[in-house]
Order: sequence, then structure tokens, then C-alpha cells
Amino acid sequence: MLRHETKEITDLVLKAAKKARKETDSEPEPELTKPIKWPVKCTVGPGLEGAIACETKIGYVNGSKGWLVYRGYDIFDLCAYSTFEEVSYLLLKGHLPTVTQLGNFKKKLIQYRHMPNTQRLLMSFPIEDMNAMAALRLGTNLMRHEFTYDDTDDWRPDLKSVIGADEDSIPMETVPRGEKRAIYEFGSKERGKKFESDSLGLQPASGLDSCYHLIAGVASIAAAVARIRAGHLPLEPDPELSHAANFIYMMTGRRPAPLEERVMDIALILHADHGINASTFASMVVASTLSDFYFSVGAGIAALNGPLHGGANEQVLRVLNEIATVDNVKPWLEKIRKQKGKIMGFGHRVYKAYDPRARVLGPLAEYLAKNSESGLKLLHIAQALEREVASSFGTEKKIFPNVDFYSGIVYSCMGISPELFTPIFAVSRVAGWTARVLEYLENNRIFRPRAMYIGEFEKKYKPIQKRT
Ligand code: ACO
Repeated sequence: MLRHETKEITDLVLKAAKKARKETDSEPEPELTKPIKWPVKCTVGPGLEGAIACETKIGYVNGSKGWLVYRGYDIFDLCAYSTFEEVSYLLLKGHLPTVTQLGNFKKKLIQYRHMPNTQRLLMSFPIEDMNAMAALRLGTNLMRHEFTYDDTDDWRPDLKSVIGADEDSIPMETVPRGEKRAIYEFGSKERGKKFESDSLGLQPASGLDSCYHLIAGVASIAAAVARIRAGHLPLEPDPELSHAANFIYMMTGRRPAPLEERVMDIALILHADHGINASTFASMVVASTLSDFYFSVGAGIAALNGPLHGGANEQVLRVLNEIATVDNVKPWLEKIRKQKGKIMGFGHRVYKAYDPRARVLGPLAEYLAKNSESGLKLLHIAQALEREVASSFGTEKKIFPNVDFYSGIVYSCMGISPELFTPIFAVSRVAGWTARVLEYLENNRIFRPRAMYIGEFEKKYKPIQKRT
């Protein structure tokens, strides 16, 4: 049975969907999507704008209609009726799961969320002094190390052979349960033997199981980073909780109310996939070299961090605080426009209509801000900024709020601090990254665009002593 508030959230999503359909009804029908016959002709702009790199069945973004579709399902429907677990399964496998399939998938996630080794390793780094996305990327690398070698019980080598095989073994306990559970780090020779590449040359970390491990584990890492930065120890996951609820729990130590869980779930659904955006492309480029999922997701995290991409959500909050009052919105915007600066949380390469994700996050922020004085203040400034941007740029430029504009207010109202906004984005987008990489590898071709050389030729080499 849905609680009253979560039913209100569903109604709010459905209302946003209705508004979206009404407002974009008159826009032209999308260009038909069709299979490609290579080589394909397309007009390419700087930053690969318009370039077609591959076929996909995973997701579709229509910028003029403001559509976002995962595997044929409208984003509004998924937000209203689905969960992040179901959506991740859908993105990876291509269809919605049955009860049994979803149950098995959840079991995998529960298993992989538990990573005491990785958390402990993470704590040996100065996480509290690191940028949260840098720490997340580091944690993802540690996950690779753990998964490919010794993170799961059944992959642990026989103790005698381990100790015998490596004189430099480091004694350590993986789970604090006494001597009987203690195992030993083992050396590179043993690792190499156990996990050889498959016939395609793919590393063992390039299987579907790694996708599950990453979807489950990036959330545990992000939560651990949040805890360590706040001066607390990382928490063990709670197997009784959903992905969204457990993520909040592992971050805060508090089992969330159904409303909070539902809002986080929707935020995770909304951010899960979005065409070949910069971070997804980065993941795919790395995967195309037949590297593995962990390196690919690490590249995605790195790309997502930038303020022109996922890093914008944190910047939006900084800007709203800098503006400080509704009265200051107009002068602030005039100043930025004079400086030809970018307004964080606005504009999009693909959307020339209102971003459907912002259509959901805006009302969600409004709903949550009702009970938060600071949230309400931020919301009023944000809404004033949205109105000012619309009137300042006019309808021609088609600059609307994007996904990052209201998400920060939503998270702020949930008591989450700004440096975690972009890691939360990654916790969700890891589903899209892994799904896209998995699909691309089916017909892999290494990425290799070219640049037009406009430099000089035939210059004479001068020894350093003769250079001025
Ligand atoms: N503020 C001010 N002007 C803008 C903005 C903005 N946020 N976005 C676009 N414009 C203007 C540009 O100045 C440019 O104007 P011009 O034609 O007069 O030169 C025009 O709109 C086209 O913008 P581009 O920057 O060329 O668009 P592009 O597709 O290259 O960039 C981007 C898209 C990076 C998202 C851009 O809109 C931007 O920088 N936005 C702010 C950062 C942001 O919010 N990023 C998050 C995006 S969503 C995501 O990645 C998850």
C-alpha cells in the first residue's frame, strides 16, 4: 500500500507528464529512428554535435519534443510506477523483469553492496581531503581490484597455496569475526592464473556481473565517501532496504521515511541514462579499447565531474547562494550576461524544449521545500532565476532549466550536502554507463575520430641554446 505522501509524489509526476505532452504537442514529430547502413552521412558540428557513433536500443532523447525514453518506456511513466532496480535491469537487459528476475537481480545487488574490503581500503586514503568525485573514482578503482581478485568468498584462494605462493603475503582480516575468518592478501602470480582474459581478449571484469557489482557498489562507495568526509565510519548495507533507501541509510545512518525513499528513487531513475552524453561517451571510448567496466565507469565519473556536465548541480546551489535574495536575481543575471558567462543548470546540447527531468525535479523541489525554510528560500530564488532567464533570452534561444537546475534543491531539502550531488548523479548514471558499454561491446569498434590539422609544416628544428 502506498502511503499518502508517496501517492502525492506519483500524482505530481503524472501532472508533470500531462503538462509536458500538452506543451510539446505542436512541436514537429521526431525524425524517424532507423537502422544505420554504414558509412552514414551526417552533419557534424564541433564537439561531435550531430555525429552518429553507433546504433542503440537503450534510450532515446528527442530534444524538440522533450522526450526521454528508456528501452521504449517514457521517463514519466518510469518515474511514476517503477523503481531504480527495475530501471537498471531494464537498461541492462532490454526488458522489464518478472517478479523472479527482479528478485534475483535484487539479491545480486544486496550481495555486491557489501564490500568491507573496499571500504576499508578506501579509508586508507585521505578521503576527507579529497574532492568527493575523485574519491568515488578511486573507490571504483578499488572495487575493480577487489572484484577481479578477491572480494567474494568463493573466489578466495586456498589459504595454503596463497601463503606458499607469495612470500610477501600481508596478513589481514577481511571481516572482523575472529581468527577463523582471517584470510591473506595474495600475490600477483596467483591472480594472473585465476583470471585470464576470455577468447575476445576481454578482461574478466567485462562481464554482466561487473555491471551488477558497479550498480550496487558505486552507491556503497558514494555513501562511504559521504560518511568519511563527515567524520564517521562507513556503514554496512541493510539488506532489507531498497537501493534508494539503503543508499540514504548508508550515507546518513538513518533509515529514510517512505517519502524520502521515493524521492531518491525518482531522482535515481531520472538520471540513469541520457544518450551519448559526455560521461557515457567517455565510458564507451574506454570500453572500446577492450579495457573493462571499472576503467570505463571511472572515465564516466571523471567526465561527469565537470561543471558543464554533472558537476553543474553543485554549481547551481553555489550560484543560488551567491544570488542570495530574489531581488538580486535580475542584477546578478545582467552581470553574468554582460560577462558572457554560463548560467549553471540551464541549456542543453540536445534539448531545445524543457528538459523532462527538470519538469519532474522542479515540482519535487517545490513539494519538499514546503517543509524546509532554507529550501524554500533557494526555491524562490531558483524560480525567479528561471523566469528571468526566460525573459532575458527570449523564446528563440530555447534555453531552459536542465536536469541539474532543481536536483540540488531536492537533495538540499533532504539534508544532503552539495559536494554529494554529483556523486549521487554517478550512483544513478552507472546504470546507463554499464548498459551502453555492454551494448557497444556487442559490435565493438575502437573509437578514433580525427582532428583537422591546421598547424604549420616544415619548421626547422633549433637547438635549445639557440631559442629565444
Ligand atoms: N547560460 C548562458 N548561455 C547559454 C547557456 C547557459 N547555461 N547554455 C547555452 N547558452 C548559449 C550559449 O552561450 C550559446 O550562445 P551563442 O549562440 O550566442 O554563442 C548558445 O546558447 C548555444 O550554447 P552552447 O554552449 O554552444 O551549447 P552546447 O550544446 O555546446 O553546450 C551546455 C551545452 C554545455 C550544457 C551549455 O548549455 C552549458 O554550459 N550549460 C551550463 C552548464 C550546465 O548546466 N550543464 C549541465 C547540462 S545537463 C548535464 O550534462 C547532465
